[in-house]
Amino acid sequence: MPSLDAADTEMSDAPVSISAAAKGKGRAPADSEAAAADPVDLLPWVEKYRPATLSDLVSHKDITATVERFIEANRLPHLLFYGPPGTGKTSTILAMARRIYGDGFRNNVLELNASDDRGIEVVREQIKSFASTKNVFSNSGGFKLIVLDEADAMTTAAQSALRRVIEQYTRNVRFCIICNYVNKIIPAIQSRCTRFRFNPLELDQVEDRLNHVIDHEGCNVTQDGKEALIKLSKGDMRRALNVLQACHAAYDRIDESAVYNCTGNPHPSDIEDIVNSMMNDDFSTSYNRVSALKTSKGMALADMVNGIYDFLMTVKLPAQSRIYLLDQLGQIEHRLSTGGSERIQLSALLGATKIAVQLSEKDAAKK
Ligand SMILES: Nc1ncnc2c1ncn2[C@@H]1O[C@H](COP(=O)(O)OP(=O)(O)OP(=O)(O)O)[C@@H](O)[C@H]1O
Ligand SMILES: [Mg+2]
Repeated sequence: MPSLDAADTEMSDAPVSISAAAKGKGRAPADSEAAAADPVDLLPWVEKYRPATLSDLVSHKDITATVERFIEANRLPHLLFYGPPGTGKTSTILAMARRIYGDGFRNNVLELNASDDRGIEVVREQIKSFASTKNVFSNSGGFKLIVLDEADAMTTAAQSALRRVIEQYTRNVRFCIICNYVNKIIPAIQSRCTRFRFNPLELDQVEDRLNHVIDHEGCNVTQDGKEALIKLSKGDMRRALNVLQACHAAYDRIDESAVYNCTGNPHPSDIEDIVNSMMNDDFSTSYNRVSALKTSKGMALADMVNGIYDFLMTVKLPAQSRIYLLDQLGQIEHRLSTGGSERIQLSALLGATKIAVQLSEKDAAKK
């Protein structure tokens, strides 16, 4: 009998009704005691607010509509969902499973994700034994669903073994393969599935869902706080909810600086100071100033580089110096990610800014 634990917990974790007592923090003591006892309230918000139905998903309406049509026509193909984290891939398949099987989904869905061992033996034994038994009580065309979440972590050997299994059991099983990087899935499997790409959510979709959670939890969020949350999410709904929950736990009022403090991202006004200093002060003054700020605020240079990149997008610069700076930022980011020293890379960043300033001066002199 295959293990259904993963599917069980995922499924039961997605309640949608929230009791009044669970809303807000710091309400009447009796209420907060009741809330503490409620297991729903102990869940991370990403699970508490995991969309339970396909219509709860705020994004990718085209994908959900297509999938619904497949289900209605009883012609579900094998599916391959791919795209960056926190965009609703797992939520979509879970909502879909519920839509197909109703309460009986636990017996009809085998969910395996990266925390389970998914070597070649699992494909041979667990998947095969689940796939080879027929679903007799179903009103869903008789097929069961196997969800292979985070399939890009599967070995190539296991993926190759899967090819045959997919073909052999197509009569009673549909596979849904989910991954972040589609190029890590072998072409033979890709060609057996209908592919759907999950793009990062549009920022107004993130806002819609955030508003929903903010209302239910009674968070005190200022307008600039909400804008910062949306901007930092970069279309990753999971990140937006996690940051909101962390801020809610740490601050009574969630404003822009609360959000930046919680995430450890440099505040835009600090970034502006840094860029101004790098452009206008002489090398050593600027180096000392930026290092001091970096130490006092506990900033990582990589986050600073990201912040500077965002800032450069909002200011006017002559084309030559913008191109030069962007190129340098890219290189510095890469060197930092491969273990370059923060001290040397900071000097490189300063040097690059100085050259960019010279380029703009030349440009101004020409005119
Ligand atoms: N389209 C959406 N509508 C509403 N909520 C969403 C949506 N996408 C993501 N979320 C929220 O983000 C959380 C994470 O989403 P989900 O687990 O589906 O992401 P994923 O695409 O599977 O990410 P990963 O690639 O990291 O596994 C969900 O629990 C839900 O709260
Ligand atoms: Mg997922």
